[in-house]
Amino acid sequence: MNTDPVEYYRQRALEYEAIYQKPERQGDLHTAETSLQERLAGLDVLEIACGTGYWTEKIAQTARSICAGDINEAVLAIARSKTCLCPVDFRQEDFYQLPPHGEEPAFDALFGGFIWSHIPRQNLSDVLESLQKRIASGGRLVFIDNRFVENSSTPVHSRDEAGNTYQQRRLGDGTEHLVLKNFPTTDEIRSLLSTFGKTEILELTYFWLADCRLFSNKR
Ligand SMILES: C[S@@+](CC[C@H](N)C(=O)[O-])C[C@H]1O[C@@H](n2cnc3c(N)ncnc32)[C@H](O)[C@@H]1O
Repeated sequence: MNTDPVEYYRQRALEYEAIYQKPERQGDLHTAETSLQERLAGLDVLEIACGTGYWTEKIAQTARSICAGDINEAVLAIARSKTCLCPVDFRQEDFYQLPPHGEEPAFDALFGGFIWSHIPRQNLSDVLESLQKRIASGGRLVFIDNRFVENSSTPVHSRDEAGNTYQQRRLGDGTEHLVLKNFPTTDEIRSLLSTFGKTEILELTYFWLADCRLFSNKR
């Protein structure tokens, strides 16, 4: 069974957006879309792990510009075919290894869709610390991700010693993948983000959305 998350998303590229077709999630998706468009309106956004550009296209309706990176060319090829209403620079980029701080101008906001849940719990604090350095003082960190919903979410298959949870997933071609997928509590999300700024968390049925307004005197 494959355990490499990058390989998993490379193989899943063509079927990825099926997740956004689940009928019971349409109301939440609409609410999330509107909320993200309001929060990121007029901003220069750094989007990490943009995947097929599902959210890039949505937030491009109000953002000023987006720099959208993903490690996988297979998903970027789909993202580049989207029609975006603001300038978007799609690039192959590992968000664990962004260019050194100061090498490019600070962005107004960072956006991460459904990637928080794939970051090992023990690394989250360091990853957030590094990401927030790319964002200007007073800017924002915005994340959206899944809540675990019985009978809708894929069941948790196993848990490691650090408390990370894993799902066993099967792709259309029959291949099996063990994927790290965490479902943090609101308190855990708030506690991590509050180090960097004032944090608001929107709890929908299927998703959570966190918006951290960075302190104006941040490091
Ligand atoms: C769950 S998908 C989310 C895609 C998109 N943000 C969305 O919400 O539809 C996770 C994405 O993270 C990408 N990814 C995984 N590890 C990465 C890394 N280290 N750097 C950049 N992208 C990464 C995968 O290629 C995949 O496209």
